[in-house]
Amino acid sequence: MIFGASGDLAARKLLPALYWLEAAQQLPDDVAIVGVMRRKLAKATLLETVQAHIGEGVDQAVMMRLGERLSVVQMDSADPKDYPKLAQSLAAIEQGSDAPTRLYYLSIPPTVAAPVIDALATSGLAKETGITTRLLLEKPFGFDLASAKELQAHLEKGFSEDQIYRIDHYLAKETSQNICQFRFRNPVVRALWNNQAIERIEIEASEAIGIEGRANFYEQTGALRDVLQSHLLGLMALVLMEQPQGIAVHDYHRSRLEILEAIGPIAPDQVGSAVVRGQYEGYRREVENSHSMVETFAALRLLVDTPRWQGVSVVLSAGKALASKRTEIRVYFQAVDGSNAPNMLTFRIQPDEGITLQLEAKQAGLTTDMTPIDLGYEYPADVLGRRPDGYERVLLDCIAGDQTNFLTGREVLSTWELLEPVLRAWERNDESTPLVPYASGSHGPSISAFLTTP
Ligand code: BG6
Repeated sequence: MIFGASGDLAARKLLPALYWLEAAQQLPDDVAIVGVMRRKLAKATLLETVQAHIGEGVDQAVMMRLGERLSVVQMDSADPKDYPKLAQSLAAIEQGSDAPTRLYYLSIPPTVAAPVIDALATSGLAKETGITTRLLLEKPFGFDLASAKELQAHLEKGFSEDQIYRIDHYLAKETSQNICQFRFRNPVVRALWNNQAIERIEIEASEAIGIEGRANFYEQTGALRDVLQSHLLGLMALVLMEQPQGIAVHDYHRSRLEILEAIGPIAPDQVGSAVVRGQYEGYRREVENSHSMVETFAALRLLVDTPRWQGVSVVLSAGKALASKRTEIRVYFQAVDGSNAPNMLTFRIQPDEGITLQLEAKQAGLTTDMTPIDLGYEYPADVLGRRPDGYERVLLDCIAGDQTNFLTGREVLSTWELLEPVLRAWERNDESTPLVPYASGSHGPSISAFLTTP
């Protein structure tokens, strides 16, 4: 069930992901898709939005199979009185199925998630009697520590932790999936993964697109909450965490949590030197708020005080309306005397997924000059000639009941704890953290001070 099936996320990501899973014959035969929405929208119209997003080359046979799985329920998902109607539709779909599994995907703004979670609980739809129910939630999980705790309290009333799938589609991206494997399985990498060898780490998520008409959403969110708190802290945990002690999912989750907790909240008096915020020119006009202080660019420098990472700075940055789309993790190794460029390992998350190790080698020919060289791995395109989007994996993992790539409630709270002092300083409009304007299509505000200051 997709709650908010007529919304932007469903049109841009979820329904297209289901299309691609259908095309790759990855969806089990007995999966039915129910679009839940307040608006009166015909199933055909929903399918047209999928078609528009897939674009040229859409396979009509796949569209037809997707259409056969899809039905729509028009209801107000915040109103408990409408739930019997949903329960009836589900009962009709599940007729003849012994032990159905229901996935409730809340593809709705975080501000309206709580009433839907409550209504699922009070209507009995969250219960697991003869059925398995899972709740999929989209970030942001709350908009600060207090609201995240409140959301957590709503969740705990109706669902247990093993029913809750907090999605971070960045953790499901192909290269993100490789970070831990690559780190823990290669002796060469293991030996170097510490402050003796590594000087600093940068995690960047630059987007060329602006806010794409999502003025309301973005005015309540901003780059820190939209991408940095979730996607980038999630990637960072994979880069910095210790090897899990066991192979169970909760061992893996525990390692991710431990590193977030080890970092802890940024000291209030350090906020000015730990963050940069920017806003692209033209943003205020776009959102029709001439005083908006919402950041469309945010950068954060963290110092991680664990034995492995002491002295290494980790810089995270996320922004919109920048020169190009680029999500990558760059690990800079300590320079040796006389070298021109540091050794650097890059996880390219998008585009051109791959892993590159930049080293130095002697230039070819009658010279002793050195030159940077790249040792690289490019991901092969999959059998369909395209790379699966993170959402395809999110959906498959949830169907399979695998919580590895989803966040726990405690992880979410620890990311908000970490950022709380920044949110408060920005709210006060603290002069130590000015909002820096930048031109659309540029590289954003300069963060070079971050990169050079230890
Ligand atoms: C979403 C953010 O979580 O991630 C969007 O809300 C952002 O603002 C998007 O554009 C980026 O995702 P991707 O997979 O296109 O990099």
